[in-house]
Amino acid sequence: MFDLTFFFFAVNIIILLLAAVVFLLVLHHNLLGLSDVLKRQRSDSTPLEFQQVDFLVESPRRISDVKEIPVVIPAVDEQLGGVIAAINSISSNTKSNVVFYIVTLNGTEEHLRPWLSNTDLKNVNYKIVNFNPRVLEGKIQADADGDPANPLAFARFYLPDLVPGEDRAIYLDDDVIVQDDIQELYNTPISAGHAAAFSDDCDSVTSKFIARGAGNRYNYIGFFDYKKERIRKLDMKAVTCSFNPGVFVANLTEWKQQNITKQLEEWMERNVAEELYSKTLVGSITAPPLLIVFYQRHSKIDPMWNVRHLGSSSGKRYSPQYVKAAKLLHWNGHFKPWGRAASYADVWEKWYVPDPTGKFTLIRRHSDGETSK
Ligand SMILES: *[C@@H]1O[C@H](CO)[C@@H](O)[C@H](O)[C@H]1NC(C)=O
Ligand SMILES: *[C@@H]1O[C@H](CO)[C@@H](O)[C@H](O)[C@H]1NC(C)=O
Ligand SMILES: *[C@@H]1O[C@H](CO)[C@@H](O)[C@H](O)[C@H]1NC(C)=O
Repeated sequence: MFDLTFFFFAVNIIILLLAAVVFLLVLHHNLLGLSDVLKRQRSDSTPLEFQQVDFLVESPRRISDVKEIPVVIPAVDEQLGGVIAAINSISSNTKSNVVFYIVTLNGTEEHLRPWLSNTDLKNVNYKIVNFNPRVLEGKIQADADGDPANPLAFARFYLPDLVPGEDRAIYLDDDVIVQDDIQELYNTPISAGHAAAFSDDCDSVTSKFIARGAGNRYNYIGFFDYKKERIRKLDMKAVTCSFNPGVFVANLTEWKQQNITKQLEEWMERNVAEELYSKTLVGSITAPPLLIVFYQRHSKIDPMWNVRHLGSSSGKRYSPQYVKAAKLLHWNGHFKPWGRAASYADVWEKWYVPDPTGKFTLIRRHSDGETSK
């Protein structure tokens, strides 16, 4: 009998202990949840340093002790599909914490927001930066209406202002697809004293594919009017290989120290006054100031990180194996992958996410079997 009493007593104690443990577990869990909410509220109320920068989605994949990789992309309203595909390819292929700085003009934001938040891209970390084309006044030739032709093309000249507080950033045009982890491009070695790394137009891989008879397209002489005193005084060899301004990695500390933005602005102003660029300029309008300022003062990025000219004709210049092996594909040229006559449009389209507002649509030839889903 004594044994039985003791037995019930022991069972009661055990039940009490179990209840206490469960109670403590529930309490602990709720407290954790509460501190999460508090943390979130605190970061929400952080004052913004720059008014034009818009902090948005906190990615759940975000790992706080991993450095952010800032990727700057200009977003022209008519080409937003390109920006979307580029962002999708980058974020799908990286293990890193990438933050996109999408540079827009007034009005594009309303188009872009639903596209990023109502689709599979809703976990992408991005900030929208409004570029003020006024900074270009007097620095580029305006068209008949007095507006610069494509102001966003010059956003890259202002990189440290677009990505304040960062030491390093990647700049990408909107006509690219990334097929590997962008962390590798971000880690491109940049030599001491260099503010950026570009891909040269004559590196072994790229030049192998350069169209025969391309002539001066890949030399400095294709970009400048060497008869001008101002250009001759720079003492830049006319046969120097040019580099592509559409994909680069920058050391922003070095960029600021060397006043790169100021130097680029000065060359823009001089060109407006003296017409220093080649009359038959073949490359990008943004290339000449960069070619001057970074003449023999830039590092190189791996050629596979800028496999380009996919948009220079509607033909296919690379083998399917090579296109597959490329880490970054670049449709520079007139034939964009969202347009009618693009090459490798199927490769690009895998990353495209349709516009939920319906404003942007792919232009496709239905005869060749490609569909615009
Ligand atoms: C953008 O548009 C708004 C309203 O139309 C205007 O108040 C603002 O100054 C514009 N910003 C820029 C940078 O042009
Ligand atoms: C950028 O350049 C500065 C100054 O030369 C150097 O101290 C720093 O290590 C560089 N940072 C990166 C990320 O390359
Ligand atoms: C950059 O500009 C600052 C301020 O105008 C000046 O003090 C500095 O010497 C300049 N640096 C270079 C490398 O030109």
